[in-house]
Amino acid sequence: MNAARVLALLLSAAGVVVLVLVLKPPPEPEFVELQSSSQCLECHPNVAAEWRDSWHARAYVDPEVRRLSNDFANEECIACHAPRPVLHFQAGERVLARFAERDLGVDCLTCHQLPDGSVATSSPDPPAAPCRPRHSPRLADVSLCASCHDQHGTVRQWAAAPPELKGEGCLDCHAEPVPRPAGRMGRAHHFPGGHDPDMLRRAVELRAESEAGGRVRVELENVGAGHNFPTDERSRAADLQWRERGSDGTWSAWRHLHRFRDPYRDETDLTNTQLPAGETWRGTVTPEEAGAEVEVRLLYRTNPFQPDEEATEVHRVSVAPGG
Ligand code: HEC
Ligand code: HEC
Ligand code: HEC
Ligand code: HEC
Ligand code: HEC
Repeated sequence: MNAARVLALLLSAAGVVVLVLVLKPPPEPEFVELQSSSQCLECHPNVAAEWRDSWHARAYVDPEVRRLSNDFANEECIACHAPRPVLHFQAGERVLARFAERDLGVDCLTCHQLPDGSVATSSPDPPAAPCRPRHSPRLADVSLCASCHDQHGTVRQWAAAPPELKGEGCLDCHAEPVPRPAGRMGRAHHFPGGHDPDMLRRAVELRAESEAGGRVRVELENVGAGHNFPTDERSRAADLQWRERGSDGTWSAWRHLHRFRDPYRDETDLTNTQLPAGETWRGTVTPEEAGAEVEVRLLYRTNPFQPDEEATEVHRVSVAPGG
């Protein structure tokens, strides 16, 4: 063979190679075995930053949980606070505790890992990626949250909510859409709840107006929570208080009006006074001095014994003197 023929043969072989490269879809990136959520944190820094700021990330190190579980000597408490991947269980089945990396609490693997080791996404057409995303309708379904959040009935309360509050599910209100770098839309992973003053404000509307007989009528309506207010943990309490300003210009002390709460099991003298989705609580106050200026406020406590100064003031309204 002369040099020209060798060159021609080489070129045509290269052509075939080029053609094969053009026709073949790009190979799926090599699958990375996922054993720790710290791997996800490195490749998904945006989601990671949101998650780190969430109570899910704190579930195992939260001092309040540590105290009440006796530093997890009560092993029952580990199941939902440092769980194995939820999708390794059937929907409705109880989740069980994991043994590794408990400090990461409710982590990436908890919500995303499928039994075959790939990760669940709600996208019907997932991108090719080293973590091997696979479509799983269970990920964005309320049943995922229900594995841990229905012990006090939050998901059952949601199921009974009026349609405008119920929406598509928990993510409507707890995971707002956010743009991701690749140009696609994602969902914020902060999962704000009772610790977030903005969430508390949008949950309920407080109204007060004077009525006949020098009384002030007070109403609290659940306009923005797709379940009871407050919900879930029995330790949450929301209190309405009021005070009046006498003709000498001084305010009285705050007086108790009503508490919204699901009592602990041993508080058998109390009944559940949570405010269901869409419902309104109504009451009246009668100032000692007829026609006095009245203020009404709503305080939210993460535990029922939290002093007023540490509680979150959610709303305050006033009724002008003389009604
Ligand atoms: C080696 C890097 C790497 C690791 C480790 C990794 N991912 Fe990914 N992941 C990617 C890339 C790249 C994409 C595709 C681009 C995108 O959607 O951000 C992706 C896509 C995804 C998607 C699909 C998004 C969609 O559009 O449907 C999900 C869900 C996901 N990853 C979750 C995880 C979770 C959970 C973990 C840990 C268990 C993890 N990933 C670990 C790189 C990684
Ligand atoms: C079935 C799942 C599950 C089990 C088991 C469980 N928890 Fe929780 N825990 C949750 C969920 C879900 C929340 C969040 C609810 C909320 O924010 O109202 C939570 C929240 C808490 C909080 C509130 C944290 C804070 O900072 O406000 C405390 C305290 C707590 N749990 C203690 C415990 C203790 C103690 C045990 C064991 C006796 C336990 N949990 C067992 C699911 C569980
Ligand atoms: C409490 C459960 C939960 C935890 C914990 C969680 N995710 Fe998600 N994640 C979801 C749900 C639900 C969706 C689907 C939202 C949708 O598409 O409607 C999702 C979507 C995603 C997506 C695609 C959409 C987006 O926002 O970009 C990525 C990527 C992702 N998660 C990565 C992670 C990583 C990384 C971690 C750990 C830092 C993590 N997730 C922790 C529940 C969770
Ligand atoms: C594997 C169990 C588990 C799953 C699944 C789970 N969570 Fe949680 N979630 C928890 C625990 C435990 C806490 C409390 C952590 C703490 O405060 O120590 C919590 C806290 C929360 C909070 C309270 C934040 C606050 O301000 O106190 C919200 C809201 C929340 N989760 C929403 C969701 C939603 C929505 C889903 C479904 C997409 C979901 N979670 C799935 C276990 C879980
Ligand atoms: C219409 C909006 C909306 C929907 C839908 C919704 N929530 Fe909420 N959620 C809120 C608001 C607002 C708050 C804050 C007020 C409160 O604690 O009730 C909240 C609070 C919470 C808390 C915090 C309780 C605490 O102790 O801090 C949890 C947990 C929670 N929701 C879980 C869920 C789950 C699970 C679903 C789905 C079954 C869901 N939510 C559906 C609006 C919603």
